[in-house]
Amino acid sequence: MTLSSTTPRPLVAGNWKMNGLSAALDEARAVAAALDQKPAAARVAIFPSALLLHRLAETVEGGAVLVGAQDCHGKASGAHTGDVSAEMVVDAGGTMVIVGHSERRTDHAETCAQVAGKVEAALAAGLEPIVCVGEPLEKREAGQAVTYVVEQIRNSLPASLTGQAFNVAYEPIWAIGTGHVASIDNIVEMHAAIRAELVAKFGEQGKVTPILYGGSVKPDNAREILAAAEVGGALVGGASLKAKDFLAIIEAA
Ligand code: PGA
Repeated sequence: MTLSSTTPRPLVAGNWKMNGLSAALDEARAVAAALDQKPAAARVAIFPSALLLHRLAETVEGGAVLVGAQDCHGKASGAHTGDVSAEMVVDAGGTMVIVGHSERRTDHAETCAQVAGKVEAALAAGLEPIVCVGEPLEKREAGQAVTYVVEQIRNSLPASLTGQAFNVAYEPIWAIGTGHVASIDNIVEMHAAIRAELVAKFGEQGKVTPILYGGSVKPDNAREILAAAEVGGALVGGASLKAKDFLAIIEAA
């Protein structure tokens, strides 16, 4: 997808992680129905498991909910048992993909170079990526959070993103699934540093690339987080699993 010249709408993305069986399609259906009744200011996307992606895409087809995958391989096809290619995501009805989530970087030892390769593969297939970055607790405690994340941005975003629609998500690892949300000061400081790096790397385009915050975003803190400087949306894990909570976050954007 090529870049639009207008300022992007905020993006509220629900990352279901390794949660959700067939019955979870009802939650997606409820989100789609609510947005149909009352269109949201934000763009809304759901990232279910790879196995549910096709059915979810069919469930919400024609409505406001975008669908994406939680990961894709860096190669277009081949002998990579258990992996999913970007083209398969498109074939199943997805238009977006999350790459470089900290759980992939940790559980599967994904490096920034591999993440950049996945971004290339996503773009080649026509997917809009959300590239995740975020520091572990020890880097924050050592006062190295900003340097660490800026380095991740430098190494995870290939130059081929120039002119393409993409998003960055800042997710401090210590805030994911823990209920410990980063302070607004932490968020503003980091988003400013990411913005500066995006502008250095992509010029004018870098000024408008949405930078999402992720890490324990809930209905009761979403409004304040989404209103913070340079926060262009939210990547929501736990609170995206129930339509009611996810809709409350969408409403706050
Ligand atoms: P959480 O997950 O909202 O459950 O903290 C966020 C994420 O990892 O995307």
